[in-house]
Amino acid sequence: MKKITKAVFPVAGMGSRFLPATKATAKEMLPVVDKPLIQYAVEEAVAAGITDMVFITGRNKRAIEDHFDKAYELEATLEASGKLKLLSYVQEVVPKNVNCIYIRQAEPLGLGHAVLCAKPVIQDEPFAVILADDLIDGEQAIIHQMVDVFAKHQCSILGVQDVPRAHTKQYGIVSSTNLEKDIERVNGIVEKPKPEDAPSTLAVVGRYILTPRIFHHLENIQPGAGGEIQLTDGIAALMQEEQLLAYRFKGTRYDCGSKLGYLKAQVAFGLMHEELHTDFAAYLKTVV
Ligand code: UTP
Repeated sequence: MKKITKAVFPVAGMGSRFLPATKATAKEMLPVVDKPLIQYAVEEAVAAGITDMVFITGRNKRAIEDHFDKAYELEATLEASGKLKLLSYVQEVVPKNVNCIYIRQAEPLGLGHAVLCAKPVIQDEPFAVILADDLIDGEQAIIHQMVDVFAKHQCSILGVQDVPRAHTKQYGIVSSTNLEKDIERVNGIVEKPKPEDAPSTLAVVGRYILTPRIFHHLENIQPGAGGEIQLTDGIAALMQEEQLLAYRFKGTRYDCGSKLGYLKAQVAFGLMHEELHTDFAAYLKTVV
């Protein structure tokens, strides 16, 4: 029985939809209320018992490394001024048993290429991939739900949700047959099909469990849509050899790679925030 102990966080994209905010920092460092997107993603992995966090960084890597590093000066200043609650927020960013590993993707050649960059660290183990710009709020962490599915089926799993047909061209879309409640056996996957060509409306969103055989396929596929090495194409090749499942996760997803999705996340997380929810809800009533 294999266990998932490593998660890959591709954070080397251009983030062009958020320019100029992402000119000098990664999209994944944009905050929702008071935490950057990448911290929500790492917390999700920690909740699933994952201990090795592998960040695939690009030209804006420094802010992410600094965020997960010890901040001696900041901690000393907060301690000296008695701001102990803030100090605990800073110190709890990374739990003690968690390792952060950084790999540079020299050029943004695509999500598939970013995942391939993790091969030297992942080696021969199954692993999780979490896209921090898909922020998903669930009673149980989404990747934890998927790790549980993996524990039973021991194969690659895609996190999926139904989307309006008009939106299929923003996603990888699967065709599948039902296996059990919330779990589909995938028999086809296409990247960003037009609504009229989409085999279904079941879209892959930013959560994956992959077997290490994916690296072989990512090494061998040609650039696909947009001239990028597409993870979807690697997964389509993997599916020819191994069982591939799709899991309808239980949770609400906010597409924080888009401005509207990001604003929705701010509202939802603002309304759930322990210090802000009452005042924020009252304020919203006055503006809507
Ligand atoms: P997106 O498709 O959202 O692309 O990448 P992007 O470049 O970040 O954003 P836009 O479209 O220009 O606004 C999905 C995920 O894959 C990562 C991104 O950081 C994001 O988490 N990624 C993408 C890489 O790490 N490397 C790449 O070459 C491409």
